[in-house]
Amino acid sequence: MLRVGVMASGGGTNLQAILDAIDSGAVTNAGVEVVISNNPGAYALERARNRGIQAVCLSPKTFENREAFHEALLKKVDEYDLDLIVLAGFLVTIPAAMIRKYRNRIINIHPSLIPSFCGVGFYGLKVHEAALKRGVKLTGATVHFVDEGMDSGPIILQRAVEVLPGDTPERLQRRVMEEAEWQILPEAIDRIANDRL
Ligand code: GRF
Repeated sequence: MLRVGVMASGGGTNLQAILDAIDSGAVTNAGVEVVISNNPGAYALERARNRGIQAVCLSPKTFENREAFHEALLKKVDEYDLDLIVLAGFLVTIPAAMIRKYRNRIINIHPSLIPSFCGVGFYGLKVHEAALKRGVKLTGATVHFVDEGMDSGPIILQRAVEVLPGDTPERLQRRVMEEAEWQILPEAIDRIANDRL
């Protein structure tokens, strides 16, 4: 049984997709042990509590400096003896020490077809704004391993989504979530849990 920790900063719809996929049997051999957020108001924490899953908040603001926050984050993650860390809309840079220690055990979901619209500054709605501005006809989402770079680790799964006439960044974001993110993130976990990478 793969012990999974999910890190999320916001609404947690990707977390929900993972939990639903575990419930439905679409994901097997995996269980979410803990949800960690940097944001005390993250609805992802509420979703975890509702399911009886440990919900932990570590806010950088409550630490003396970045180093102390990074140390505490790694210590917290270590406590749960995790096989896989899933970054599901986690808006904090992962400490280098954590990347080293959990190499090939941290995955991230990014709302574009990497290498398009990724790297520094491409997060949230900005990704979809950039896609619309460039006029691409296809966008999508990518699940990848996390390495020292920004969105630069090995790609695990991608799914394309059509850009439609009249799309706003918000509409496109929603379609990318529904048609790509919520599908490929659970699928990647299932593949890792069942040695089918
Ligand atoms: C998703 O679009 C994800 O790709 C991005 O942040 C968003 C998180 O949404 N990195 P949610 O918190 O899972 O609802």
